[in-house]
Amino acid sequence: MNIIDFHLQNFRNYDKEVVTFIPGINTLIGNNGQGKTNIIEGIYYLLTGKSYRVKREHELLKWDKTDFHLYGDFIVKHHKIFLESHYQNNKKRVKVNQVPCQRLSDFVGTINVVFFSPDDLIMVKGGPSERRRFIDLHIAQIRPGYVSLLNAYNKVIQQKNALLKTYNDKSLKNSQLQLWNAQIIELGTKIILQRDELTKQIQKVADQIYMNLTSQKEKLDISYYALGKKNIQDALLEFPDLLNQKMDQEIERQMVLIGPHRDDLQILLDDKPARLYASQGQQRSLVLSLKLGELELIRQEKGEYPLLLLDDVLSELDSFRRNYLIEFIESSHIQTIITMTSAESQLGSGALFQVEQGHIRRER
Ligand SMILES: Nc1ncnc2c1ncn2[C@@H]1O[C@H](COP(=O)(O)OP(=O)(O)OP(=O)(O)O)[C@@H](O)[C@H]1O
Ligand SMILES: [Mg+2]
Repeated sequence: MNIIDFHLQNFRNYDKEVVTFIPGINTLIGNNGQGKTNIIEGIYYLLTGKSYRVKREHELLKWDKTDFHLYGDFIVKHHKIFLESHYQNNKKRVKVNQVPCQRLSDFVGTINVVFFSPDDLIMVKGGPSERRRFIDLHIAQIRPGYVSLLNAYNKVIQQKNALLKTYNDKSLKNSQLQLWNAQIIELGTKIILQRDELTKQIQKVADQIYMNLTSQKEKLDISYYALGKKNIQDALLEFPDLLNQKMDQEIERQMVLIGPHRDDLQILLDDKPARLYASQGQQRSLVLSLKLGELELIRQEKGEYPLLLLDDVLSELDSFRRNYLIEFIESSHIQTIITMTSAESQLGSGALFQVEQGHIRRER
């Protein structure tokens, strides 16, 4: 999968810019605050319908502008795809090959992307929601329908939460809660099974990559914990009982306490939780292994590597890991967009773009 050209209008610090990428490594170089990350964010937004930096699209608008427009030509399996996203009056409109998409889920996964920045260390260090986000984004890219499934589940959780906050009599509440619980079980089971399956797939490839990357004998182990259990079949069997048992507690605390919206991925290095014991460098290698693992799985599923976006990552890696990463990208012919500041050593190959105050100029 390749991006050919990319247009930004009124997006972040860009007025109207276009950049034409090459199929190999594209390096964006420039001082701090010039707009390198904004390009990466724009491409990510165009492909996923979401920004990884902000929740509200409004912040992506160039200051004092009222609409932004992102569009570009892509190639997937030798076919050209034209993707555009237009945001105006709090609404976004997305078109694939000029045809409007009704829902986000209609186009997410059309062109796949793997994004990696130093902030991704939060996957190891942060709370369960960060790890759920990683696995959910991955599944959404390769399984059409997963976004709708998650949306449907989240709606049920919202509605059950709303019911828990109302003050009607207990027996009425109990019977209404049973209805929501049936849906939580139905949708939740599908989510749990997919997350578990995909976690197992990632575990296999990421463990291998971690070994190559670190040339150490540490074992990387990632597993999905559903409803607090590693054994998914047991967890699913107990799901209905657990919901019943916790009903009084849910009523008391006025929130849904049971379901995959509270699940977690456990990441172990040599059987010890990476969150507590892994060094900064080990955590970085670990996240890089997960990202490269994701890249590999998307290729297995789709027959092509996704687009790889690396924001400020190279300077954080030691030379061995850096060389491994570059070699991986070059030998696998993965189209990659890398940002770095001018102070860092430049890559020898590929195209080089200078980014300065919202303008992009190709230098090599
Ligand atoms: N909504 C916006 N409208 C206009 N300018 C914005 C908006 N949001 C951010 N900016 C500006 O965009 C500039 C470039 O940001 P960006 O994060 O892309 O920089 P960068 O080149 O990646 O820098 P660094 O090397 O520090 O990571 C910042 O100076 C910021 O003030
Ligand atoms: Mg940046």
